[in-house]
Amino acid sequence: MNTVTPTIIIGSQWGDEGKGKITDLLSNDADLIVRFQGGNNAGHTIVVGEEVFKLHLLPSGVVMGKKNCIASGVVIDPFVLLEEIEKIENRGINIDLTIDPYCHMILPYHKEIDQSSESKLGNKKIGTTGKGIGPCYADKINRTGIRFVDFLDRDQFKNLLEINVEKKNSQYENCFFSAKDIFEKYLPLIPKLGKYLGDVSGIVYKNLKSKKIIFEGAQGTMLDISHGTYPFVTSSNTISGGVFTNVGFPPMNLNTVGIVKAYTTRVGSGPFPTELNDEMGEQIRKVGHEFGTTTGRPRRCGWLDLELLKYANRLNGFKQIALTKLDVLSGIEKIKVATSYKLNEKLMGYPLTVSQLESVSPVYKEFPGFEFDQDISDYNKLPKEAKEYIEFIEDQLNVPVKIVSTGPKRQQTIVR
Ligand code: IMP
Repeated sequence: MNTVTPTIIIGSQWGDEGKGKITDLLSNDADLIVRFQGGNNAGHTIVVGEEVFKLHLLPSGVVMGKKNCIASGVVIDPFVLLEEIEKIENRGINIDLTIDPYCHMILPYHKEIDQSSESKLGNKKIGTTGKGIGPCYADKINRTGIRFVDFLDRDQFKNLLEINVEKKNSQYENCFFSAKDIFEKYLPLIPKLGKYLGDVSGIVYKNLKSKKIIFEGAQGTMLDISHGTYPFVTSSNTISGGVFTNVGFPPMNLNTVGIVKAYTTRVGSGPFPTELNDEMGEQIRKVGHEFGTTTGRPRRCGWLDLELLKYANRLNGFKQIALTKLDVLSGIEKIKVATSYKLNEKLMGYPLTVSQLESVSPVYKEFPGFEFDQDISDYNKLPKEAKEYIEFIEDQLNVPVKIVSTGPKRQQTIVR
């Protein structure tokens, strides 16, 4: 039996690094694509020819007609999933999908709690996507959540809904839900989604050594619930190690691909040492179309931060890097990269606490700008200044940059 090392695709910054395009690219010769955390807070844009696909829950492999799985670590809003399935099917694509029955369901009260908790926080708000992700994971950890396996059993679903709705209505002032109404609204979804349920952990385990598997991460390392910029994070483990518990297979060697955007962005609140609150930030946002796929919010933009990437590499163990959106920097006269931080006049690396991260000033190295055509697919045809930029990142992180994305389309990619 041949042995194939599974690939895992991880965002190295605060999400939106362009994972969708790289997953789509690497899915070309893959057999199975598995989404393992997060929910419809994520948004992946994939461009195939003239067609644009925007996905929130479905693994990117659906666009290629591959086998896809949603693992138990994902929280699912069933209406969003169904709508996404129907949209893709209406474009003439057959979906091969298995959903783990242990996935937790996002229900209307989760969205309400998410949005009202945020508005109560005022200027201390996290800036969540408002999709109910945090409250759904909170119920999972509290052992009160409703999973797909419960959803399939009408009586169990009804019973759990009644318990949950009563609790939410009494705990939250804006919750006036009726378990009966939710039950009746969700009932027609049971046959429509029930047919996709299957043993995802078992499918992955069975195929680990013989099939090419891609694990598709959502969000980014710095949004990890444990290791990110807490509390300005999402509610799941986004780093590579999370895949083992979120899917349910034994720890093993993985080909971890770190997706690094050629600059940095973040949506929502929280520290961001290299943020540019000036015209340059505005230019990057405009050229890079840095507006959220899920919420349409303008993303905060800044220079590349190597301290942050070294931290991300330490957490994930990148075997290779895919550098995305390099074309967005094309035409900028001078490009900066943060190589370390300064706090109270002292040089330092990634700090121990988030409050220190809020106070550090980045120390920059300046690079001469470069200009190139988005359709370049040969590394040697890149201007020497662009290669210098790429090779500096590679040297600093000691991880090879194997893929460089020079535009949104599939063919606008350099594979080294
Ligand atoms: P939540 O995941 O909706 O609870 O939001 C928590 C934080 O994660 C907020 O700052 C969001 O903007 C951010 N976030 C969640 N999903 C994504 C994503 O896919 N890309 C970028 N940021 C995200």
